[in-house]
Amino acid sequence: MSQHDQSTVSRRGFLRAVGASGGAGAMLATMGALGLAPGPASAAPPFRAPTRADFSLSGRSCARVVILGGGVAGLAVAYELGKAGYDCTVLEARARAGGRNLTIRGGDRETDLDGRTQRAEFSDGIYLNAGPGRIAQWMVTMDYCRELGVPLEVFTNANADAWIYNESAGMTAPVRYRTAKADVYGYISELLAKATDQGALDDRLTATDKERLLSFLQSYGAIGGRTSGFAYTGTGRRGYLSYPGAGDEVGVPLGAPPPLADVFASNVGRYFSFELGYDQAMLMFQPVGGMDQISKALARAVGTRRITLGAEVTGVTDRGGRVEVTYRQDGRDRKVTADYCVATLPPHLMARVPHNLGADVTSALADFPVTTAGKIGLEYRSRWWELDQRIYGGITETDLDLAHIWYPSYGFHGRRGLIVGYYNTGANARVYSALTPAQREERAVTQGVKIHGAKYRTELATSYSQAWDRTRYLEGAWTSPRYGTAGYGRLLRPAGRVYFAGDWLSREVAWQHGSFVSARAVVTALHERVMTN
Ligand code: FAD
Ligand code: ALA
Repeated sequence: MSQHDQSTVSRRGFLRAVGASGGAGAMLATMGALGLAPGPASAAPPFRAPTRADFSLSGRSCARVVILGGGVAGLAVAYELGKAGYDCTVLEARARAGGRNLTIRGGDRETDLDGRTQRAEFSDGIYLNAGPGRIAQWMVTMDYCRELGVPLEVFTNANADAWIYNESAGMTAPVRYRTAKADVYGYISELLAKATDQGALDDRLTATDKERLLSFLQSYGAIGGRTSGFAYTGTGRRGYLSYPGAGDEVGVPLGAPPPLADVFASNVGRYFSFELGYDQAMLMFQPVGGMDQISKALARAVGTRRITLGAEVTGVTDRGGRVEVTYRQDGRDRKVTADYCVATLPPHLMARVPHNLGADVTSALADFPVTTAGKIGLEYRSRWWELDQRIYGGITETDLDLAHIWYPSYGFHGRRGLIVGYYNTGANARVYSALTPAQREERAVTQGVKIHGAKYRTELATSYSQAWDRTRYLEGAWTSPRYGTAGYGRLLRPAGRVYFAGDWLSREVAWQHGSFVSARAVVTALHERVMTN
């Protein structure tokens, strides 16, 4: 008997025994654990929040914890520790909690590192998610929304009716996603079918494999059969000039596709893999009313009296039995003393805060390359993209320096709406962050007109732009941790009584999920220490 047979038999016997004693539910759960049935593979990593009972049962008492930074990670640490009655204080330098979880509404005002002040003039109900905008279903962020009572709605991350526009490839007009996909899938299917049928893949495929592959390609690419040479000639998948109607109105299809060479030259296919990413695949979600509903709900649950705003941390000293944190608020230097500290500032900013935690900590903190990003919210007097172009949410992809254009996934058919006129990163983002807000708007609109036409300019009411590299107390969008290095590992461990948390100490950087799971890891470690000391 082969090793494979042996393990199959022993697993089968084991499962029979589990089924006999525990019933079908237990057997299914066991099969899931063995990888034989759909198990909770996409569930969040296990986490048990500290509880008050932990202390009442052990006779130990809660510790005092000072948390540096009131972003998602800092608030989550305070929230989870608060469940057990820890005495937490959050020190946040900005005027509001949330950090990068930032939603801009009418009346919001901020001065950037260059001294440029913007005041958002958005109408009631209109908002810009300047930082996070989407949540995947498997993310622990969803669990926090449920627990905190934050209502969710679908965020449209992919839309067949959105545009693709590659100016550098010579495109003079945008093409709908559906059309681009139909043509790329069609021609790829034709080529692969021809090659398969002509025997080019015979060393990889049996005759049965070949028939199965050909059958798949015919449906995947909507191509003809063998007699037509598997030709791709276009179908209704490309879209219609006029869609089918009543009676005998068959509609006016877009017609024949451009030649294969033109389709590949347009390079539209470069965007298709995005929606396959495990973190970007539909369905995705957003909180109703703005992403900051998450940080607001967290702040409410923590208690505003525990969150000190406008408090710029200026120093951290581990005194052995306690931690002292100095901060500046309203022009005055202040100090708070606690049993433990959790530092959630972005690493490149924490590296600048004087401390006595060791040179290895400073160099580890300073070793996180920072990426920037930018967004502009363009409020329009009408929702012309819905009315004229039939685009209800989703993303237009471009090779322009504005990169992505987002249509709102909320307020459909409302009076006004907000388009994210650019969402770009790296060098593209820096092009915009170097400009004044008015210049950013002009650049974004000039480019957007190429795709959407004159209304992109004439219907514009107002705009607000976020340049993350120029944003005080953040100075960047996210970091690229050097996983596996001693420095990264150093920050996963406490330095004396000081712990570190944030998306930068997770495998999901640039996602709130990363901040939450990092916060949970620190809460678990800190609570274990308190319970065993
Ligand atoms: P931060 O939010 O950076 O919190 C750090 C806090 O420290 C800030 O509040 C800061 O003000 C404060 N601070 C700094 N210096 C001091 C000081 N000296 N004293 C006191 N306080 C200080 N996530 C998603 O889930 N979905 C998305 O679609 C998504 N898109 C994103 C798009 C953009 C453009 C950006 C920028 C981020 C995006 N993210 C997204 C990532 C998400 O925003 C972050 O992972 C998360 O918000 C980070 O939370 P944090 O608490 O770890 O860090
Ligand atoms: N996670 C960020 C986003 O999806 C970068 O836009």
